[in-house]
Amino acid sequence: MINVALPKGRLGERVYDMFERAGFGCPEIRKPGRKLIFENAAAGVSFFWVKPSDVAIYVERGAADVGVAGKDILLEYSPDVYELLDLRCGVCRMCVAGRRDFRDDPTRPLCVATKFPRIARGYYSELSREIDIIKLNGSIELAPLLGLSDVIVDIVETGSTLRENDLAPLETITAISARLIANKVSYKFKNDEIIRLCRGISEMVSQEETEK
Ligand code: PRP
Repeated sequence: MINVALPKGRLGERVYDMFERAGFGCPEIRKPGRKLIFENAAAGVSFFWVKPSDVAIYVERGAADVGVAGKDILLEYSPDVYELLDLRCGVCRMCVAGRRDFRDDPTRPLCVATKFPRIARGYYSELSREIDIIKLNGSIELAPLLGLSDVIVDIVETGSTLRENDLAPLETITAISARLIANKVSYKFKNDEIIRLCRGISEMVSQEETEK
């Protein structure tokens, strides 16, 4: 039996479709309700709906054998897991954003608000730019608008949150997408099953790419 941690929400539902089309479905999962665990013994698979930012923890600790996590979470927390596959969905980018007319003043530290302090620190340390980090948990766009920070480091998908708040992306740090990850011990002891699953999903990813 392979245990799969899926991120709750739209991305998770989309990824579940790939699992199903690859032959690892569990139809009961589509029933509306608040249930979090679904098992299909015949297909040898069970799914858990997990808060997206927690998927990597479940996989790292072996509560799930595999899971689907955003590259943003993998970069920020560096969980001790194998990254098996780029699922090419949940595509967005990690950006520095701020007011359109923002000009950096190199004579003082740049004040950066973010949910991703490690990614922000890494980016600015490469640039040898001194920064002050303000760690926030959401609605990051408010920070430069209220003078809490000079800029933000955050995820930009459609760009509409920035636009609607009179902000703009200023620099791209890295591209982000959803990744299939595996627990290291499971990968060793359930290798055949995990490779079979990974191959199946990989075919679905290629199929979706050609359909685009
Ligand atoms: C994320 C991110 C941006 C928004 C970007 O927020 O932090 O606010 O999505 O998407 P867009 O470019 O398509 O507008 P999320 O929805 O995760 O909520 P949050 O404010 O709680 O971080």
